[in-house]
Amino acid sequence: MRLLFIFLYLIKVISGTPTPIVLWHGMGDTCCLVISLGTFKVFLENVIPGVYVNSIRIGNSSIEDMENGYFMNANDQVQMVCKMLAEDPQLKGGFNAIGFSQGSQFLRAVVQRCGDRIPPVKNLISLGGQHQGVYGLPRCGVLLHPTCDYVRQLLNYAAYDHWVQYSLVQATYWHDPLDEETYQHKSIFLSDINNEVYINQTYIDNLNKLEHFVLVKFNNDTIVQPRETEWFGFYEPGQSKKLLTLQESRIYLEDRIGLKKLDKDGKLIFLSAEGDHLRFSDKWFIKNIITPYLNPV
Ligand SMILES: *[C@@H]1O[C@H](CO)[C@@H](O)[C@H](O)[C@H]1NC(C)=O
Ligand SMILES: *[C@@H]1O[C@H](CO)[C@@H](O)[C@H](O)[C@H]1NC(C)=O
Ligand SMILES: *[C@@H]1O[C@H](CO)[C@@H](O)[C@H](O)[C@H]1NC(C)=O
Repeated sequence: MRLLFIFLYLIKVISGTPTPIVLWHGMGDTCCLVISLGTFKVFLENVIPGVYVNSIRIGNSSIEDMENGYFMNANDQVQMVCKMLAEDPQLKGGFNAIGFSQGSQFLRAVVQRCGDRIPPVKNLISLGGQHQGVYGLPRCGVLLHPTCDYVRQLLNYAAYDHWVQYSLVQATYWHDPLDEETYQHKSIFLSDINNEVYINQTYIDNLNKLEHFVLVKFNNDTIVQPRETEWFGFYEPGQSKKLLTLQESRIYLEDRIGLKKLDKDGKLIFLSAEGDHLRFSDKWFIKNIITPYLNPV
């Protein structure tokens, strides 16, 4: 009898319970843009039996959650999520985190700012995140209209307005390559987490505690502009046509947030998926994300 218990105990120790997963959805998610995270949570629970999934809701209802994705100050959202994650008893032993679209850069901010106050984040998966910001309107690409470029210049004019920064989430990761100076000093979120103006060593240290930072870029993304931002690429400063890769950019060359070490250690993973923004198949996700990072055997 005793042997049987020891045997069962050993099986439990060896197989273990799966690492919990935290999800942060993208802009307008509960509405109509992309896949529903509710469905995605069930999908994860089916593929990884016994996994605990915490899908972050900002606000007291789904409606509020969706509204806050547009209008709640990004820094306040990050702070709130830090607290939620620190207080969730089921995450105590550490967890993996998956960000969808803007949720990706928000989760990176959680890691950088609160990595030493929350349980360890093991793998951070960024699905179509805008790590160098955006310079374009959603679907500007598919409109194929000169007005679009005009409008984005207009939005750009107002994006760094104090009031706009504090009341429109997307303005906080608006990155104008024609005016890097203003972006660096007026962006209240992206410029800070990218250590544009000064180096916060805590951000570097915390980011380097990750086991892997996986960046997924959607090859045919028509929503994110430029789509290279999903791999930390962006327009070369001073113009809006020529693109630089991460390795050609200041953030890497000056190693402002510690990506160089992650990269050299093989912990920074670049994946690309065919298709439009967040349009991956279950099969692709199991093969490229779940098996290697979320539930390795
Ligand atoms: C949740 O509801 C409370 C009480 O109405 C409110 O004070 C709080 O701001 C709401 N939370 C969010 C994140 O909107
Ligand atoms: C660096 O970031 C940490 C974590 O967010 C913060 O507590 C600290 O005040 C920041 N340091 C500076 C100099 O801003
Ligand atoms: C998607 O993008 C890839 C790489 O840029 C390209 O080879 C492929 O033809 C595109 N597919 C579609 C359906 O547009």
